[in-house]
Amino acid sequence: MHINKYIYCFAYDNTESELCKLESRYIFSKEEKNRLLFSNIKAEPSCSAYIKSRLDIISFSEHYSTLINEIKKESLRIEGFKVEYLVFDGDTTEYAERLKKLRDIGYSIEGIHDYYSPTITYALCYYEGIWYFGILNKNNLAWHKHKQKPCSYSNSISISIAKALVNIAAEANKEKKLLDACCGVGTIMLEACFAGNNIEGCEINLKICMAARENISHFNYTANIYHSDIKDLSKRYEAAIIDLPYNLFTRSTDNDILHIIESTAKITDRFVIVSSSDITNIITNTGFRILDYCSVSKRGKINFARKIWVCEKNG
Ligand SMILES: C[S@@+](CC[C@H](N)C(=O)[O-])C[C@H]1O[C@@H](n2cnc3c(N)ncnc32)[C@H](O)[C@@H]1O
Repeated sequence: MHINKYIYCFAYDNTESELCKLESRYIFSKEEKNRLLFSNIKAEPSCSAYIKSRLDIISFSEHYSTLINEIKKESLRIEGFKVEYLVFDGDTTEYAERLKKLRDIGYSIEGIHDYYSPTITYALCYYEGIWYFGILNKNNLAWHKHKQKPCSYSNSISISIAKALVNIAAEANKEKKLLDACCGVGTIMLEACFAGNNIEGCEINLKICMAARENISHFNYTANIYHSDIKDLSKRYEAAIIDLPYNLFTRSTDNDILHIIESTAKITDRFVIVSSSDITNIITNTGFRILDYCSVSKRGKINFARKIWVCEKNG
């Protein structure tokens, strides 16, 4: 029986379901299903807004009693442990039975448990005929601190979209040289810096550029942010993220959009573009092909959706 090393649990609002699937295709090369994903790829839950936890599998079995014996064989000795039961799709185990099973596991580990501030959290779960036991790594939501950045901007995208854009652009490679081509106040850059990605930014408006720099240094990150029109950058990047100006507060015309896309196309062969209008024709006319696409609507705003394209240079 082939079993992957990790089980990822996902949590997301339905408006971001397509984006979560797009992100998981670029981190894991497959999509989550039923808010679950099995993989041998190790990813840090807090690098994504949608990964709730990662279970590092220690033991598994089709039979619960065999699983308990396997756990005992591990001779786990640890003070302050906690065990949680993860209820997955298709698991009909009743609450009282789940508590009993948690006790079985507690008795199979040496040490005193600590429910409120555990040193380690183990978890038990059942999915498609197999029991799993392992170490549970939760998304610690430390990136929520970025909500309190000193400078904000009405045109900023949400943190969850920002994190997904970084993962889609980087394709799980932290070394990849990324550019945030129209970085605004640096919402995307903050998430890239938090996750340890290699990113630089570019912003044409001096005041906004200064605000981005202040945001980056406020959290003790370091990243170059060029005060420049994107057309004047000559350094090459392995991928760029372009959160295009919307027509709301920054007045952008088709010419501005074309200018930004064509200028970015000169310094990278791959980009992830965000726009509120359909720019498929502009992308393809610039010599890029669309590899992937998704749409993210805004909760409570039926008429507003952000469209995201993953593009690569032809030939
Ligand atoms: C939608 S906003 C980006 C928001 C950003 N992602 C954030 O969350 O703060 C687009 C930004 O592109 C900048 N911009 C417009 N034209 C540009 C150009 N030619 N080169 C670089 N930046 C440009 C605008 O000043 C604006 O701040």
